[in-house]
Amino acid sequence: MNDIEKELEQIQTEAEMAEFHKNYLSKTGKLTMMMAGLKDLPASERAEAGKRYNELKRAIESQFFKKQASLRAKAVNEKLKNDPLIDITIPAIKKTQGSLHPITHLTRRVAEICSSMGFLVVDGNEVVTEFENFDAVNIPADHPARDMQDTFWLTNGKLLKTQTSALQHEILKKHGPVVSAIFPGRCYRNEATDASHEFSFFQCEGMMVGENISIANLIYVMKTILSQIFGREIEVRLRPGFFPFVEPGFELDGSCPFCGGKGCSVCKHSGWIELGGCGMIHENVLKMADVNPEQYQGFAFGFGLTRLAMMQYAINDVRLLNSGNLEFLRGIKR
Ligand code: PHE
Repeated sequence: MNDIEKELEQIQTEAEMAEFHKNYLSKTGKLTMMMAGLKDLPASERAEAGKRYNELKRAIESQFFKKQASLRAKAVNEKLKNDPLIDITIPAIKKTQGSLHPITHLTRRVAEICSSMGFLVVDGNEVVTEFENFDAVNIPADHPARDMQDTFWLTNGKLLKTQTSALQHEILKKHGPVVSAIFPGRCYRNEATDASHEFSFFQCEGMMVGENISIANLIYVMKTILSQIFGREIEVRLRPGFFPFVEPGFELDGSCPFCGGKGCSVCKHSGWIELGGCGMIHENVLKMADVNPEQYQGFAFGFGLTRLAMMQYAINDVRLLNSGNLEFLRGIKR
């Protein structure tokens, strides 16, 4: 052991450590200066001396850091032992890492896919006006379609949105008449719950408005989004469907992502899965948002994000998603 190492070994305090660092390892320390001196040696000795110097420096540095860590640990332990406010006999809290809720995960995925296709991703209110949820999407006061969606009314006359379509009007007014947007969000319906019904669930609405937008565009966009979500080619099928805010309106089916359309238990052997509704935006909806239907057209679609998440993660009871049950959430494989 050389003198420097002996000196290091005898150190007892952090202050002495700092002093040692200054004397030997800092920019002006002796070891660093030795390095600078190497250049004055004859060339024949320089390589060998450099090698020895490096070995020495590395050895001392490594001992220095070891010693520093052990002195620090000693100091912390002393403090813990003597601090009356710290009880080191209490068992440690086990830390577990959290993760994104499956709905959040899926929503982000859909947002990523759609924004890469040029769609705005809009976040809307959960409390909306009667006008936004119903009148602005062509469901007048006496229209029976209002009864299709049991509503949670608030005492101030507003309501918890029953469908993401409640944001169509605001988005058209703000970004129209040429706009492509999706608006995923939570919806509420006042209904009894069971394994496949919840009073609160997530939908994702989308809209594309501009000149010369057609059903062909709708089919292409739906096919692309769904294929990206499921990571395989999905076929899209439209069946006639009634929604007051679209004309013509369709029920939207996708070929079963699990069996590729051959038939399996998920698609009840039909090869198809119901995903939501869609259609060409009704001219009344456009007019109410000051968009001229003679010049601009567009499509809208809405699919159940909750339903999609249940399919993707094989969740058999929708209520689990709102349960806050960590065992369930940990069990989900992404
Ligand atoms: N808002 C409809 C629903 O909740 C879905 C839909 C959206 C249908 C857009 C057509 C167009 O069922």
